[in-house]
Amino acid sequence: MIIVLNQKSNLTKDEYLKYQKELLNIKTQHNLILCPSSCYLSYNRPDNISLGSQDCSRFESGAHTGEISATQLKSLDIKYCLVGHSERRIEKKESIEDINMKIKQLLSNDIIPVLCIGETQEEKNNNLTKDVIKYNIEQALINIEEKDQNKIIVAYEPIWAIGTDKTPLAKELTEIFGYIKEICPNNKLLYGGSVNEQSIPILNKVKKVDGYLLGRISLEVDKVKKIIEKI
Ligand code: PGA
Repeated sequence: MIIVLNQKSNLTKDEYLKYQKELLNIKTQHNLILCPSSCYLSYNRPDNISLGSQDCSRFESGAHTGEISATQLKSLDIKYCLVGHSERRIEKKESIEDINMKIKQLLSNDIIPVLCIGETQEEKNNNLTKDVIKYNIEQALINIEEKDQNKIIVAYEPIWAIGTDKTPLAKELTEIFGYIKEICPNNKLLYGGSVNEQSIPILNKVKKVDGYLLGRISLEVDKVKKIIEKI
């Protein structure tokens, strides 16, 4: 399984260094991908993890103050990068065209994009979940060759489940993952949104899931360890 730890905009330098040390206590066969704040991406890393970025620039390089390009990430030996997280779509008004451009930048630098998609509570109430998923996958993959498309990891993260302690029912998720597999049969699929010790037994029942994307809970190594034990 793939376990992505999205630390978002958390941890000071000392807290991060302590966290890294604690992570070494996790012995697992799973593919652990740590996505810290970008200011820590160049630090030495524990050898039981891969590193991912939480975002990248849609441009190759140049006059884009504050942006980190995929080429720069590659030079730090970063293997993965989140793209289109709902917090960026909402706070930074990131568009689907931006997301498509970022994915292209990442793929041309041999970095695996982790494409985040998911519906709002309102879209769910209006039975638009599948439409949102289809639109976002199709638009994100425009003008990308099939062999490259297949490298992308798709993370289904319902926006209403992020940071709320609510998760979809196993039955709902099985249907949604079946649907995503119809659209992109060769891609690895993750679930994200309030993954924790309580939700893992439910999530374990869902078929076709290749892993999880952890937000808040990723900040506590002992909880990550417990989740890994329960998977
Ligand atoms: P959460 O966040 O686990 O805190 O709900 C998940 C995410 O934002 O990816």
